[in-house]
Amino acid sequence: MDFKKVLKERRSIRRYSSKKVSVSDLTAVCEAARFIPVAGNIYTVRLVIVSDEKKKEQLAEAALSQDFIAKAPFVIVVCSDLKQLRRSYGTRAEIYGKQQAGAAIENMLLKVTELGLASCWVGATDDNAVKRVLKIPEDIQIEALLPLANPLGKEEAKKKPDLSFITYFEKWGQRTAKPAKKPY
Ligand SMILES: Cc1cc2nc3c(=O)[nH]c(=O)nc-3n(C[C@H](O)[C@H](O)[C@H](O)COP(=O)(O)O)c2cc1C
Repeated sequence: MDFKKVLKERRSIRRYSSKKVSVSDLTAVCEAARFIPVAGNIYTVRLVIVSDEKKKEQLAEAALSQDFIAKAPFVIVVCSDLKQLRRSYGTRAEIYGKQQAGAAIENMLLKVTELGLASCWVGATDDNAVKRVLKIPEDIQIEALLPLANPLGKEEAKKKPDLSFITYFEKWGQRTAKPAKKPY
């Protein structure tokens, strides 16, 4: 799929068909998480792949009862291990870790779109409950759950902000680009 189309077609999909997702598609989605920029070349993202029905139900419960999660054949639990990053960057590592997780999540969501599959970035979770279900150590961060499924029908695109709304020129709040001054 053309890159522009992938960007525009990506959306949060929460209604899933009962069709299976192949292991090769699952692998391709997870692979996409590898190719992100990372501070100091320290890779922090870890993925826990869940297909067990009971565990998926427990994850949906841990995600404040967002039941659609359990209907996906796979749930990818995106985590961060910040130990090495903290040794290099101190408290700044908390910010870098979140940014790296976000980059990995978006890469995966774009791959999901390219494959014609469905997912949704689920961030509303009881992190301790997620850790209990999957035996994730206390010092690991839970970043998001990504259900991976086939879509049931087509999802409406959400309205996105205009470029002019999100862009300033030269200083905060300046909406118009002034022509550069002549150097003489
Ligand atoms: C940090 C973050 C957390 C989110 N958490 C949830 C969530 O818990 N449940 C959910 O259904 N969607 C969640 N979403 C998806 C948003 O609702 C969705 O991205 C937004 O409505 C825009 O729609 P779109 O993704 O289709 O463009 C989350 C998205 C982000 C970036």
